[in-house]
Amino acid sequence: MPTWNTLKGDGTMKGYLLATLAGLVSIAATFALVETRAIGINGSGSTAAFESDGKLKLPTGYRRWVFVGAPLTPNGLNNGNAGFPEYHHVYVEEKNVDAYLKTGSFPEGTVIVKELTRVLSPTFPDGSRTEPSGRGYFNGAYNGLDVTVKDSKRFAKTNGWGFFTFGHHPEPYAATAAEKSVAECAGCHMASVAKTDMTWVQFYPLLRSK
Ligand code: HEC
Repeated sequence: MPTWNTLKGDGTMKGYLLATLAGLVSIAATFALVETRAIGINGSGSTAAFESDGKLKLPTGYRRWVFVGAPLTPNGLNNGNAGFPEYHHVYVEEKNVDAYLKTGSFPEGTVIVKELTRVLSPTFPDGSRTEPSGRGYFNGAYNGLDVTVKDSKRFAKTNGWGFFTFGHHPEPYAATAAEKSVAECAGCHMASVAKTDMTWVQFYPLLRSK
């Protein structure tokens, strides 16, 4: 027969175990909740986050994605009046670069960011300046953000890609952006680069090596 002391000890132990179990269950539940939310917003692990009215939220963290290229169309080569006189810095997440290099197309949910940076304080009319490395163009301030998102269902009419602009001006950029029309954006990409998944991979050495 157990003594009163042993019983009391058992009781305390049970209570302790129950409390631990309850704690573990609640921690697990919290993780489950966080997980569900992340999937709910992103859908299939994409970083694209849409509002209920279809507007895309401003991407974050993209400056640390893979930097695939920087086309430059300066004023000096466009009669002093380039539409986009800045560098066009293009970023793609590493997992989507890897997939493209394997398959030749980007996975559903891929986000491509093109951020404009002005040329640094020009001292010549063509927008250039001289630095110890020579006369040329150097990166100045951030000045605009265009984004494409691959979602074959949502953007079925434009070869599976949605086009968004968060402004052509210094930061801060718009917090959200509505899809742009075919005439404003997708049409030009559809006419020229439909065969390379709507993306100008010929200008990005890493991707065109595919
Ligand atoms: C007249 C043709 C044309 C139009 C219109 C156009 N683009 Fe592009 N886009 C290009 C070219 C050419 C490049 C690559 C070279 C460069 O950046 O100068 C490019 C590159 C991009 C990139 C980098 C990824 C890629 O596809 O290579 C994004 C993102 C992008 N455009 C978004 C947009 C958005 C958003 C709009 C509408 C606001 C738009 N584009 C309108 C021609 C166009």
